[in-house]
Amino acid sequence: RKGSFDHFMLKEIFEQPESIINTMRGRVNFQNKTVKLGGLSNYISAIRRSRRIVMIACGTSYHSCLATRDLFEELTDIPISVEIASYFLDRRPPLFRDDTCIFVSQSGETMDTIFALKYCIERGAMCVGVVNGVGSAISRQTLCGVHINAGPEIGVASTKAYTSQYITLVMIALSLSEDRLSKQTRRNEIIDGLAKISAQLEEVLKLNDKIQAVAETLVDKPKMLILGRGYQYATALEGALKIKEISYILAEGILTGELKHGPLALVDEDIPIIMVATKDKLFDKIINGIGQVTARSGKPIFIASQNGPALIEGSNKKENGVTETAAADYNGAEKSYVKFEVPETVDCLQGLLNIVILQILGYWLAVKKGYNPDHPRNLAKAVTTE
Ligand code: UD1
Ligand code: M6R
Repeated sequence: RKGSFDHFMLKEIFEQPESIINTMRGRVNFQNKTVKLGGLSNYISAIRRSRRIVMIACGTSYHSCLATRDLFEELTDIPISVEIASYFLDRRPPLFRDDTCIFVSQSGETMDTIFALKYCIERGAMCVGVVNGVGSAISRQTLCGVHINAGPEIGVASTKAYTSQYITLVMIALSLSEDRLSKQTRRNEIIDGLAKISAQLEEVLKLNDKIQAVAETLVDKPKMLILGRGYQYATALEGALKIKEISYILAEGILTGELKHGPLALVDEDIPIIMVATKDKLFDKIINGIGQVTARSGKPIFIASQNGPALIEGSNKKENGVTETAAADYNGAEKSYVKFEVPETVDCLQGLLNIVILQILGYWLAVKKGYNPDHPRNLAKAVTTE
């Protein structure tokens, strides 16, 4: 069932151009630029009237909520909060009948998320599921929802479910704003972006060999920082989770805007630093963050836009690169830096492409360390206990 792949994880990473198409099939009309989610159509206007949307999930599913929160805020103008299910339950926060709660879960069987769902049902909130497991507990117990249709995910590390959850949440945000004329241009831009995303993801997968070569240079490192901001904060967190859960490297996802508030103290010439630096409206701040890191002799590995603008000022040139070979095809001051170039898409969809680099990197780190990425120690695919 793994076909030509050595592990389910790699197979599932490579399935993504297809699984995201399955998520959108029959739902996004690319010609008319409309989105129709069968499972939500009777409830969309009620959700629009809610005074708050609370997204609740664990692990990777939580990161898909973070990745799309900005877009929900932008398109719906409804306050959005994003909650880790266990922390939400620890707090037992106030919740009201006019709140909508969205529960995101690959398995649909995660106990923390199920308990949070029960808490929200008891308080009369409208409960919506975004689930891969058809017939799962969360799918059955929510009032309505959307199946992400990613197909079975076997690897314990969630990969294709993340990209399909992300796209499903984007589709929900698009549906909720369908009545807003002022958002039409933006909605059309996103739907055009979705039309191209599968082919672009295919492009990213071609970087597999280069990522494997870079993994070789990182395999003995005990720790690693992954930096991102804005839409790419979720990418940093999810990338770090992937790397730590299967390679056991202590990888920390950091919001670049927080560097000066503590994490900058960790930066030196030894610690591997991956910076998500694809072009978006925060680009000036990204460049500023890169400057903060290189000024402390940090030597970032970049996830950057294909043919994008320069990231490093000429004066920062250094020769002790992580891998000179992998970087050899870059000119000028950036040539000694490793850079993975990904195709550019709409800002709110860029995380779908960027994360794939980190999924593949996590995979190779695990394999090169002799671990089986499909079965990380101490973890189970569905976490059915609290
Ligand atoms: C449904 C069918 C699909 C068929 C399509 C044709 C199922 C599972 N899906 O897809 O096979 O091709 O119609 O029109 O039979 N739901 C929840 N909670 C969740 C997820 C879903 O309550 O977490 C509910 C939805 O509100 C809906 C039903 O489950 O009532 C099916 O959801 P979904 O599969 O997303 O609906 P469609 O895409 O319309
Ligand atoms: O099935 P769920 O999406 O509810 O699972 C949530 C987490 O347990 C899950 O995403 C976990 O973090 C993954 N192993 C991460 O790869």
